[in-house]
Amino acid sequence: MRFDVVTIFPNLITDAAAYGVLGRAIEQNLIQLAAHDLRDWCHDRYRQVDDTPYGGGPGMVMKPEPFFEAVEQLRGDKSHVVLLSPQGQLLNHGLARSLSECEHLILLCGRYEGVDERVRSALVDQEVSVGDYVLSGGEFAALVLLDSVSRLVDGVLGNDTSVDQESHTQNLLEYPQYTRPAQYRSMAVPVDLAEGHHEQIRLWRRREALRRTLERRPDLLARAALTDEDWRLLGEL
Ligand code: ADE
Repeated sequence: MRFDVVTIFPNLITDAAAYGVLGRAIEQNLIQLAAHDLRDWCHDRYRQVDDTPYGGGPGMVMKPEPFFEAVEQLRGDKSHVVLLSPQGQLLNHGLARSLSECEHLILLCGRYEGVDERVRSALVDQEVSVGDYVLSGGEFAALVLLDSVSRLVDGVLGNDTSVDQESHTQNLLEYPQYTRPAQYRSMAVPVDLAEGHHEQIRLWRRREALRRTLERRPDLLARAALTDEDWRLLGEL
């Protein structure tokens, strides 16, 4: 899968993407990532990417021409163009999954007060937000999208089953995890986990995943596909 990110801070993207799972996926060529400087498509001597808004008001608006020229140069038959913006569709596991099925994503990062509306209406296929808060630019949002989408690409996590068991894949939060020592500052690892048999451990984990989701994210639980056993475990809680 290929990502092209258009931004005024290309190094921010490539530097941050060089670590961990994403960094390894790029090294192994499972993911191709290029970050492009939006100013490369400016033609004036100051390489200006923004201008004052029509109608007045505070702040600056990003000009349409550099975005149009960038996308026209980078786009192929299978490209999907995404603008990161707080007005977009909220990113969740389902959206990350569907974006991971694209062959080529072009991510456009805005800055300043916003982006000329013609970029949205005539260039962009989809607008994506990473949460109901405003960042000072789309770069960190693009990195969140890049990371969450890349780990769903075949081969990136190595072990396919790990995504299926992760939090949010099943609309459940994860069960608590422990490692050694069994006792730390008077806090003990739950006995079912430390000494339990396979089935006991499985039930404990499922019950705790359900408990957490019920307590913290009842909205998720409402969307989870619950089995008869889950309903019984929930009843016990
Ligand atoms: N740019 C600024 N805020 C953003 C957000 N919440 N999501 C995506 N892009 C953004």
